[in-house]
Amino acid sequence: MKFTNKKVLVGVTGGIATYKSCSLVNALISQGAEVRVVMTDNAKKFVSAHTFQVLTNHPVYDDLWRPVDQNTVEHISLAHWPDVIVIAPATANTISKIALGMADNLLTTVILASLPKTKIVIAPAMNTNMWENPLVQKNIKVLQEMSKFIFVEPRSGVLACRDEGKGKIAENDDIIKILESAI
Ligand SMILES: Cc1cc2nc3c(=O)[nH]c(=O)nc-3n(C[C@H](O)[C@H](O)[C@H](O)COP(=O)(O)O)c2cc1C
Repeated sequence: MKFTNKKVLVGVTGGIATYKSCSLVNALISQGAEVRVVMTDNAKKFVSAHTFQVLTNHPVYDDLWRPVDQNTVEHISLAHWPDVIVIAPATANTISKIALGMADNLLTTVILASLPKTKIVIAPAMNTNMWENPLVQKNIKVLQEMSKFIFVEPRSGVLACRDEGKGKIAENDDIIKILESAI
């Protein structure tokens, strides 16, 4: 199994593609990974934290101020834990916040506190106009210039909002291939 003894932290943000994180988490676990999930508040508007809790057999991390493990500074211990981090889906909002070095929720704080050696795989998913927006592209470029961040290019097609263009999250298999090479 490709991910035996590997610790994967999955960051889940709030977009239509949030439901696809469930099958990503499932696939990683079935390939031997130990998975922990960090959700933004907006991700929980799309998929319940309970789903990820059952899939990972572990509480979901979702609140900077209400740690799962009461005895740790959780954003630091979580930041030290994984062999690799993946954010799937990654919203325009979260990508842009990371590019600005912001740390205003548990996920962005963990990203900022992650060990320098830990790679962060980002699988964006958004409406085409958001994807093509020069502000979003500028923020992506900032991150791509650092070897720490690896983007999995979104696909083109008909989006959930019925627009057609680029912005569909990459297939899980493609995200997993990049994760394998990032570890
Ligand atoms: C129905 C709906 C679908 C959305 N889909 C996306 C999306 O696919 N990608 C995206 O970047 N933002 C999307 N958004 C906007 C984000 O939810 C919003 O920017 C939010 O602040 C993201 O928060 P987060 O990055 O902390 O999860 C959507 C919003 C709604 C209401």
